[in-house]
Amino acid sequence: MAATSCLESTQAQSDQAEDVIVHVSPNLQIRRWRKSDRDSAAPALNNPNVWRNMLDGIPQPYTLADADNWYEYVQSELVPSGPYDDNTRTSSGPSIPCHYAIVVDGKACGGVGLIFGRACYRRSATLGYWLAEEHWGKGYMTRLVKAFIEWTWETWEILGRINSFHFRRNVGSGRVMEKAGFEYEGLRKKSGLKLGVWEDEGMYGMVRPGLEG
Ligand SMILES: CC(C)(COP(=O)(O)OP(=O)(O)OC[C@H]1O[C@@H](n2cnc3c(N)ncnc32)[C@H](O)[C@@H]1OP(=O)(O)O)[C@@H](O)C(=O)NCCC(=O)NCCS
Repeated sequence: MAATSCLESTQAQSDQAEDVIVHVSPNLQIRRWRKSDRDSAAPALNNPNVWRNMLDGIPQPYTLADADNWYEYVQSELVPSGPYDDNTRTSSGPSIPCHYAIVVDGKACGGVGLIFGRACYRRSATLGYWLAEEHWGKGYMTRLVKAFIEWTWETWEILGRINSFHFRRNVGSGRVMEKAGFEYEGLRKKSGLKLGVWEDEGMYGMVRPGLEG
């Protein structure tokens, strides 16, 4: 019985370790979303200070039911990883999620992910990220985004370019992109409407190392 429990606990630890895609430090990781993350992620996202900088597709107030819907969506949005063949337009690796949880001190309290383009944009993706307000200003997101991008280049050979954008007033997010190595590509004036205000949008991009030129 004791041996079984020990085996079960070793298995559980190894399952959890396999969930982790990026180890930034002992207290900071990126891993697959778990259904139970709702308990820490939903309250963190149910915050107008976080939401005002994000797209309106994210509900506000943000409830546990919204977190459940998000979990189901993530499981359904899979993109084939591994070596990519442009002739057949297929990758030879397993299909994996595009969105991941940010874990600080063992709790999921942020998210980072990619939305892949379609047709002739199939080799580009758009990056998004957020972090619970209690962890802002500690340099976490800069380190997380850098590490996540490294992982994406290694994981999805299909990926040639990553786009990102922010509302111009969201200075912190622009700095994250600059510090993570994105190139500033221009300003789209009055490109979005958030909380009744027209927002100028700063555009950023990064090309896979070796693909430039
Ligand atoms: C934007 C956000 C991701 C930044 O995360 P963070 O972990 O606090 O960022 P970092 O600590 O790595 O800081 C990166 C840089 O931005 C600066 N910065 C962070 N917040 C800032 C703010 N509110 N105003 C000005 N600069 C800010 C930091 O000083 C740092 O720059 P520096 O090294 O030149 O001093 C976080 O505030 C957040 O999740 N906001 C809500 C959701 C969101 O905006 N998502 C992005 C949508 S585009």
